[in-house]
Amino acid sequence: MWCFPDFEAPGSLDPRTTPVWPCNFFNRVDNDPVHVAFVHRDGPYQRGIPVIHAEENDSGMVIHSTHSDGTTGQSYHHMPNVSHFTARPRVMLEGGARVTGFRQSLGFRIPVDDEHHKVLSVDHVKVSGEVARSYAEGLQDLGHWSGPDLEALGEAVLRGEFHSDDIEDRRNITQVQDYAALVGQGRIADHPNEHLGASDRSVVFFRQLWMRELRALAEGRSLKQWKGAGDLSALRDP
Ligand SMILES: [Fe+2]
Repeated sequence: MWCFPDFEAPGSLDPRTTPVWPCNFFNRVDNDPVHVAFVHRDGPYQRGIPVIHAEENDSGMVIHSTHSDGTTGQSYHHMPNVSHFTARPRVMLEGGARVTGFRQSLGFRIPVDDEHHKVLSVDHVKVSGEVARSYAEGLQDLGHWSGPDLEALGEAVLRGEFHSDDIEDRRNITQVQDYAALVGQGRIADHPNEHLGASDRSVVFFRQLWMRELRALAEGRSLKQWKGAGDLSALRDP
């Protein structure tokens, strides 16, 4: 059973769901820290392509990323379908100030059918008092999105009608970029014709965990008993 005690601590909880996206949920499960260097390369916290090391733990996989500037990062994939990482808080406070600390984010990747999925996610940020009020207002502004349909923008990018760089309102641009990257792989990705490299280590490693467990299931052997969220001590400020 999953247990995430940090999400029960005082602070901001921000649960969200995505619309249904037209591709298999494993396109999303494959999403790894390296994609940031390519898909979100215009982002404010760009640190280039990290060196990746992945290892199995009690809950699934922990990914260690080492950047060229010497900084490191960690994220988790809890079996079978949950991503768990830290990132910068999603919104600024009144006056443009930043929240001190980071947000933890959980993403539950939910299959709808073979060619569709959605994501239930929840973020937690340790804030209190006036900072919490200002942060909640910023989230509300994001939630009341009145801009163009983000999925329609992603489809237009895939059709080659324009580039994501051309979208003026950048507040939710990462969703458009992720849509193009994930849905653009096809409703069911063409894994046999991929050319995976060293930076895809965590992708390969997690697929191997899945294959090991699926093989055991098919052959009637016992599956690994994953233990909650395991040891999360590696999570830290990104
Ligand atoms: Fe992304």
